[in-house]
Amino acid sequence: MDKNISFTLKVWRQAGPKAKGAFETYQMKDIPGDTSFLEMLNEQLISERKEPVVFDHDCREGICGMCSLYINGHPHGPATGATTCQIYMRRFNDGDTITVEPWRSAGFPVIKDLMVDRTAYDKIMQAGGYVSVRTGAPQDANAILIAKPIADEAMDAASCIGCGACVAACKNGSAMLFVSAKVSQLNLLPQGKPEALYFCIYAGAGSAARCFYLYTVFQDDRIQFL
Ligand code: SF4
Ligand code: FES
Repeated sequence: MDKNISFTLKVWRQAGPKAKGAFETYQMKDIPGDTSFLEMLNEQLISERKEPVVFDHDCREGICGMCSLYINGHPHGPATGATTCQIYMRRFNDGDTITVEPWRSAGFPVIKDLMVDRTAYDKIMQAGGYVSVRTGAPQDANAILIAKPIADEAMDAASCIGCGACVAACKNGSAMLFVSAKVSQLNLLPQGKPEALYFCIYAGAGSAARCFYLYTVFQDDRIQFL
């Protein structure tokens, strides 16, 4: 059974997008090792009638990419290939100091505390797989046959969950991994093909994706990520 641990928690608190933020320090006591990092953040604060920390989350099972926290200087914290919601307190030691910050990147402005504005990146995801003209009712799912190599390539691109950790980790705020994966994921498929190139250029140019063109190419009549 996991042991309970006590530790010092330093959390970035910021009242709003234009407010000056600062770290606040909390002493966390007897936290069970099987508590998830996101659960841990607020339970004690709420029981002490303090304002809970605002952070983003959705699935809490490592697939949506919303739980965007920097923990001890690492995006998503100490584990490899796991998002913040999949971090459990057993990874930390009694007496540790744990520092939690929002994604730090110009493309992710802070909304409040640890929650950031992901609009620029949502627009990139929205850019794939459709055409701008009305073409009537949508076809039934799977009505368009897709060649297996193309489906496989789109699936590879879809393994990017769009969390934005690569952007936050890059000192230049480059979004090249995110953008190349997300524009490819849908634009490789036939549904949006007539306008795929237009939407990809629009998404790349209109985003914080400074290195977009390094990782995404249009050749052999289709979009490819490198
Ligand atoms: S490529 Fe970037 S946005 Fe996509 S899953 Fe990896 S770290 Fe997250
Ligand atoms: S909340 Fe969805 S990946 Fe963490």
